[in-house]
Amino acid sequence: MSRRLASTKSLKETLQEVIPAKQEQLKRLKTEHGQAVIGDVKIENIIGGMRGLKAMLWDASVLDPNEGIRFHGLSIADCQKVLPPAPGGKEIIAESMLWLLLTGQVPTTEQTRQLSRELAEKGELPSFVESLVDSLPTSLHPMTQLGIGVAALNRESAFQAAYEKGMKKSEYWTHTLEDCINLIAKLPALAARIYRNVYQPGNSLPAIDEDLDLVGNYSNMLGHGDNHNLTEYLRLYIALHGDHEGGNASAHTAHLVGSTLSDPYLSYSAALFALAGPLHGLANQEVLRWQLTMQQEMGNDVSHEDIKSYLWKTLRSGQVVPGYGHGVLRSPDPRFVALQEFCDARPELRNSPIIQLVKKTSEVAPGVLKEHGKTKNPYPNVDATSGCVLYHYGLTEFKYYTVIFGVSRALGALTQLVWARALGLPIERPKSYSLDALEKLIKQ
Ligand SMILES: CC(C)(COP(=O)(O)OP(=O)(O)OC[C@H]1O[C@@H](n2cnc3c(N)ncnc32)[C@H](O)[C@@H]1OP(=O)(O)O)[C@@H](O)C(=O)NCCC(=O)NCCS
Repeated sequence: MSRRLASTKSLKETLQEVIPAKQEQLKRLKTEHGQAVIGDVKIENIIGGMRGLKAMLWDASVLDPNEGIRFHGLSIADCQKVLPPAPGGKEIIAESMLWLLLTGQVPTTEQTRQLSRELAEKGELPSFVESLVDSLPTSLHPMTQLGIGVAALNRESAFQAAYEKGMKKSEYWTHTLEDCINLIAKLPALAARIYRNVYQPGNSLPAIDEDLDLVGNYSNMLGHGDNHNLTEYLRLYIALHGDHEGGNASAHTAHLVGSTLSDPYLSYSAALFALAGPLHGLANQEVLRWQLTMQQEMGNDVSHEDIKSYLWKTLRSGQVVPGYGHGVLRSPDPRFVALQEFCDARPELRNSPIIQLVKKTSEVAPGVLKEHGKTKNPYPNVDATSGCVLYHYGLTEFKYYTVIFGVSRALGALTQLVWARALGLPIERPKSYSLDALEKLIKQ
């Protein structure tokens, strides 16, 4: 998609402008190239978690195995140069990333501020969701609570209400957009309420400040609003985790469930439960747990050799090294690199024992994993450091970390629900085979 510096048009007006060209592009692909072959389906794809199968449309970002993620053609470094930050901040924020993901255009500062204000205005939770979340046992994992809260918000779904009344297909995307913006707006209040209930019972939540950006408000509601460094880190974290093309488990789940015309709240709730798995979003919690155990066992003054033997201990016990490897990437994750640069630029992080340990581990682990010889990608992924920085800045409840990821991943997953409706994509329904049926196919 072509990018241009946008005017002061609203998000919806901008989308109204860019959607027809994409609809045309889809039509052209379907009519002129519908029978073009772009790859084979091998048995290894079917029994290997569909790895490498080119089988899904996802417009906002593309993940190159070696170069990493690009959002509408922009690398992370490009985004850091052109996307407007928060007032007084330097890092990319959720609003400018969301605008880019949805429209393919770089928003102006004014458009970004307008979107921040809209999100703040829509950020309060309905009281029945507050009561529901408050009634959940604090022993319930924060991710389970988040999924429940998001699903319950579907009582407010504009898409579902319009569908019940009967709407034209061409109107699907506008109601989907309304739901998606409402959901993104309410996620910080929901996620912060869960945090307060579980970790700071009795502390009341501050009101949403309409002059703050989404993550500024989130940090405030978490009780860390005066920690500027943490707020800036959260901004970067949430923008960077927003989208990682479509095949990852949470994005794919949102897409699959959304394809049934389930509304965005239900679709994203399902995605959150995929994100809650240890091989996916839960990894940032697991990395911290693992690095802290390493620190407890060996102290802060560890050598590369010490770390090497600890890595082998983990591998020999049959566990994976959390924060390393990736389903698509075959080089160090540029999101890891961006977070590492954030750490390197700040003395408090450069001197932090846990951040130093993460860095040292990243210098040793690829060599050990290569020698171990199993993983196709021995390099660090974003989770190798993401949770450890939160820990350093005082957000130490690591069971909560995937919730922050969940606030973030909404940006990409919900963007695609809008586009799936705008492009009229059908219900997903791949063909499955039994083992016997596969053998029969091979013999034929
Ligand atoms: C991300 C992950 C799930 C990708 O899985 P994948 O696409 O199946 O990865 P590979 O194709 O490289 O896996 C091949 C083998 O290497 C192993 N492997 C992959 N990453 C590994 C790691 N970090 N440590 C040890 N072994 C690993 C796999 O378990 C698999 O072993 P198996 O053949 O016995 O089943 C995997 O790398 C992993 O478990 N990493 C640790 C968890 C993590 O950091 N997740 C966050 C991802 S952003």
